[in-house]
Amino acid sequence: MGTARIGAHKMLAAAEECIARCRALALHTEEPGFTTRTFLAPSMRAVHRDLGAWMHDAGMTVSVDAVGNLRGHYAGISEAAPVLWIGSHLDTVPHAGAFDGILGVVMGGKLVELLAGRRLPYAIEVVGFSEEEGVRFGFPFIGSRGLIGDLDPALLSHQDSGGVSVLEAIGQYGLPKSQDTWGPSVGYLEFHIEQGPVLESLGLSLGVVTAIAGQTRLQLTFEGRAGHAGTTPMNLRNDALACAAEWIGEVEAHACKTSGLVATVGKMEVLPGAPNVIPSLVKLTLDVRHETDATRQNAVVHCLNRAREIAEKRGVCVTSRVMLDQAAVPMSEQFIARLSDAVMNVGHSPQLFTSGAGHDAMVMARVMPAAMLFLRSPGGISHHPDESVLASDVAAALLVGLNFLENLP
Ligand code: GLV
Ligand code: MN
Ligand code: MN
Repeated sequence: MGTARIGAHKMLAAAEECIARCRALALHTEEPGFTTRTFLAPSMRAVHRDLGAWMHDAGMTVSVDAVGNLRGHYAGISEAAPVLWIGSHLDTVPHAGAFDGILGVVMGGKLVELLAGRRLPYAIEVVGFSEEEGVRFGFPFIGSRGLIGDLDPALLSHQDSGGVSVLEAIGQYGLPKSQDTWGPSVGYLEFHIEQGPVLESLGLSLGVVTAIAGQTRLQLTFEGRAGHAGTTPMNLRNDALACAAEWIGEVEAHACKTSGLVATVGKMEVLPGAPNVIPSLVKLTLDVRHETDATRQNAVVHCLNRAREIAEKRGVCVTSRVMLDQAAVPMSEQFIARLSDAVMNVGHSPQLFTSGAGHDAMVMARVMPAAMLFLRSPGGISHHPDESVLASDVAAALLVGLNFLENLP
């Protein structure tokens, strides 16, 4: 293929096409005016249709598997060739940007297209994971966990806010019953926007991920007692929301004083939800991350202990449920070295990173060597409609991808 033979002009045009595709796919949404696309939402069908048609035209055999992953297979030189997986996720957070996840899938497809029919010693499978954000069911990685065979009946029974279980959602979407899982593999490669300000602050285009921080996601329920907002004196209340608010302040303070720790209460439901009624019930989520597992686990214990103490003081009952307990995951040393070499081979400097964001690579790394290439995020903006990426950075990342493919055994 010879990366040198693909001129800078052609690569920039390829990058611009990737960006245009992502922007067009962002219009497939559950909420007009925003990009919101959760696991197996109706809008995901349109993504499967458009992205699948393009992957087909690029020379891939396209299918949607039993957990809703869009898969494009590009055969290797022989039937028995092992597979290099290139992927990321197709779902989004509410009111997302156009690039988180889907850019990595589109770039995988573009790399196959740039091969222009040339066969490699390995097959390539481009995978658009159905779910990574954890928005619909409260736990993430349904797509990649499904692919590696790590979805147990307990996870499949989790319900969304409308009472539909993961299993029912799969049935309603009409997915195949049996899973075409993974076989002999070379490894997994994921292109993703950085989603933070570091590359930009260093004036660099690309970063190589060495490890992904661990994360714990919890659901907490504070149960107090409803009452009349006008007649119940302040000292005779069991206000579930005031209790949760005091606790959230402590969670934030604890994260602020623990180096590298991030803790977020990102979703909250308050019942009964009227201006003149003391809140009786608060359901909320807590997301805790750190690159060192022990620091994260200690923080979770601290937060739960404080929740119990504050609740007891206020005559409120608190319960919690762990939705995710994901250890920090190192990327493959061999793939980090190969990717760093590829970055240098195309004239860039490979900044090494620990990712604070979770990625499908965390799951794939359990079963095969995995690596990630980060692309600079202008303004550090992500999980926001203003998220963007520079065409010149996408062009550089595509070149790195081709160089990486060329030098794989
Ligand atoms: C994925 O976006 C995450 O929450 O890290
Ligand atoms: Mn995300
Ligand atoms: Mn992502």
